[in-house]
Amino acid sequence: MSALTVRELHPALGVEITGLDLRQPPDPATMRQLHDLWMRHLVLVYPSQDIDDAQHIAFSRCFGGLEVHHQAIIRSRFLPEIFRVSNVNDDGVLMPPDHPTVRQVALAQFWHTDSSFRTQPSIGSILHGVEISRTGGETHFTNMYAVYEALPASLKNQLRGRRALHDFGHLHKLANLKPLTSEERAAMPPVWQPMERVHPVTKRISLYISPIYNDEIEGMQQAEARQLLSDLQAFAAEPRFIYPHRWEPHDIVQWDNRCTMHQVTPFDPGERRVMHRTTIAGTEPVLAAAA
Ligand code: OGA
Ligand code: MN
Repeated sequence: MSALTVRELHPALGVEITGLDLRQPPDPATMRQLHDLWMRHLVLVYPSQDIDDAQHIAFSRCFGGLEVHHQAIIRSRFLPEIFRVSNVNDDGVLMPPDHPTVRQVALAQFWHTDSSFRTQPSIGSILHGVEISRTGGETHFTNMYAVYEALPASLKNQLRGRRALHDFGHLHKLANLKPLTSEERAAMPPVWQPMERVHPVTKRISLYISPIYNDEIEGMQQAEARQLLSDLQAFAAEPRFIYPHRWEPHDIVQWDNRCTMHQVTPFDPGERRVMHRTTIAGTEPVLAAAA
């Protein structure tokens, strides 16, 4: 078993873990420790792990099966489990800010949680900072259990028992990207997800929204729904709930998509930023909190 060193990064969430070499998948006892730390702290940071994509995939598989993203413009051409959060293409060439891939990736500047538009959304994501930004490009994570617990009654009463629509196509409207074709829409139809969810492992309740995909709330007029989503988002973005990650080369950051949201801060589009992500696939639909 590895002797892990664990350091708290923020009172709300996030720990740094050293004493591991991710070129080899951890042994089962270490995996149990990592899983416990993950459930307790929501975001795990493993610094200085200069691993290749195959090692990244092998480590990620210790936590479950992996998603293969449905769009070729985001997937790696070499290894389909790698989701490229990058302004550099597979051939290593910097893409201009108006390139459709770059525009889509830039939407990560809005708060979201990954794959919430799937009927069985992702469990978690593992992001490798291959080439990091120094002009911005921090990744901010918010603890949605803490957000839920601290919600003022005025907001909590409005969302009680409700579901929000998670629509992958909403992303394209936000960025003025080409609308999805009917085949693309059929491949990823919008889904209603409870706004108060129970985590299947910890049994804790969190607020579940993913604003880049949300534009409707069940039983609400659109203007009212938009206002509520915007109020919830503003509340969730209070610094007391957020761990801001400043990247160093070859940081690996792992988060739980079931109880956090994240966003990246803007950076100079002339600077290369290459981040490779694996996405741990969900195995069950989102569980609603009891009314
Ligand atoms: C992601 C994402 C933010 C970043 O990988 O899912 O939103 O900092 N990335 O690149
Ligand atoms: Mn993301």
